[in-house]
Amino acid sequence: MPKPTYLLLLGPPGSGKGTQARILRDALGIVHIASGDLFRENIRNETDLGKEAKRYIDRGELVPDGLTIAMVMSRLHQPDTEAGVLLDGFPRTLPQAEALDSALAAEGNQLAMVLSIKVSEDVLVERISGRLFCRVGGESYHEIFNPPQVPGVCDQDGGELYRRDDDEPETVKNRIQVYLRQTNPLIEYYQARGILVDINGDQPITQVEEEILATLKEKELMA
Ligand code: AP5
Ligand code: MG
Repeated sequence: MPKPTYLLLLGPPGSGKGTQARILRDALGIVHIASGDLFRENIRNETDLGKEAKRYIDRGELVPDGLTIAMVMSRLHQPDTEAGVLLDGFPRTLPQAEALDSALAAEGNQLAMVLSIKVSEDVLVERISGRLFCRVGGESYHEIFNPPQVPGVCDQDGGELYRRDDDEPETVKNRIQVYLRQTNPLIEYYQARGILVDINGDQPITQVEEEILATLKEKELMA
């Protein structure tokens, strides 16, 4: 059986990781695993992990590596990951990246490609401040750039649209600073491995998607 394909979407808060991941998972037929979504699910279900993670997420800080790595590793071992995984928001620190590398190496595998989505800082704030999520399926919208057909209602399943608690302007500013300090070093880490590709995220959603699909085809990661 062929080895699963592991891809990573790397980019600051609001760069469009979640938006592109939902499009790509369908195009590639692989599962989308977002550490932020896993934390939010734990918060909704009021688990011990959710209660602990919320203390950090509400301030825009990263959840400690030990908790994050354990949560994502357990998700990676689910049977639906056999064809491959599109990672979104993990790894975000060097220890997380090393933990992922070791886990994949133990299976004789490695990350196939890291798509680094570049977006200027003022655009990030504008995108996050207009963002809405569906309570049912998690689909994301933007009041101006990607509005739902009916205000406040998800096009896919009719679910109610809401704003994330950590999308308050002050928290967003901190999330961006945390990204620059703690996650930016991963760009060099993956560049040195020759698997990093820059994607221009400062374009409309469909153009970002086209650029990613063209890159994956060029590297023969999709037909
Ligand atoms: P997480 O959920 O990962 O949030 P994030 O990285 O801050 O990123 P976002 O989800 O805010 O942005 P996105 O890039 O997905 O953008 P989106 O597609 O929605 O993490 C949340 C928190 O959890 C962290 O702060 C941390 O506390 C914790 N956490 C998570 N992972 C962790 C880890 N590994 N380690 C430790 N802690 C962790 O797009 C944004 C908006 O823009 C949407 O409205 C969308 O419609 C719109 N949009 C998207 N693309 C475009 C475009 N091209 N043009 C115009 N509008 C666009
Ligand atoms: Mg996201």
